[in-house]
Amino acid sequence: MRLDKYISGQGLASRRACAEAVRRGQVLVNGLPAARADMQIDPDKDSVCFCGTDISYTEHVYFMLNKPAGYVSATDDRRLPAVTDLFPEQLRRRGIFPCGRLDRDTTGLMLITDDGPLSHALLTPRRHVEKVYRFVSATPLAKQAEDLFSSGMVLASGEQCKPATLRCAPDRLSGEVTLTEGKYHQIKRMVAAAGGSVVQLERICFAGIPLDAGLERGCYRALTADEILKLKENAYPKTEETSWTFSSNSHRS
Ligand code: URA
Repeated sequence: MRLDKYISGQGLASRRACAEAVRRGQVLVNGLPAARADMQIDPDKDSVCFCGTDISYTEHVYFMLNKPAGYVSATDDRRLPAVTDLFPEQLRRRGIFPCGRLDRDTTGLMLITDDGPLSHALLTPRRHVEKVYRFVSATPLAKQAEDLFSSGMVLASGEQCKPATLRCAPDRLSGEVTLTEGKYHQIKRMVAAAGGSVVQLERICFAGIPLDAGLERGCYRALTADEILKLKENAYPKTEETSWTFSSNSHRS
């Protein structure tokens, strides 16, 4: 594989930035400065250090995005900005996509990856992966709202919800909801069923991974090895017969 393709494919730099780093002697292959950006390397055997960071080939990439309002949960939209527009071209070409959907006006934690099977496993209703949302309502929620949520409410459409946890602020104008499913506009419709009207919604936790408080809206960062492990534990729960190990970021062996 070409060195610049390998580095850009990991989302570390564009090919042009890679070529500049090579010219400056900031890219080492097996400990020696790379001669050319287009030199061939073997991702399984060669070690590459890019601007002081040791990198190794990962089969998949996983990012935490702090989604801003105004972006649709898609990879492409003819009319509206899509969440993947917030990522550089070399990652988009890798085939990244949002794992699940948030409404256009919802903000907060969104997992962006190119790992289709993991995304599918996290989203399948059988898995009951937890998502935590913080909302603000224009009107106070009813006194019995907590019970309504925990008993598994029936929405105005007739859809049955799984039991959910609601924690309301004392003024009952805001709160947090933990869901283990993902119906269309679910929080908005559940809050409406309890007398509220959502005016702000943010996802603050997904599959046990909290939104990084240091991550500004519209920004993303790579998940840590521990966070990826947590995702995999949620997606593929261990049974007594199965166990799997994970080495940092799914390195090829
Ligand atoms: N529930 C909603 O109503 N909207 C979202 O974006 C996510 C959950």
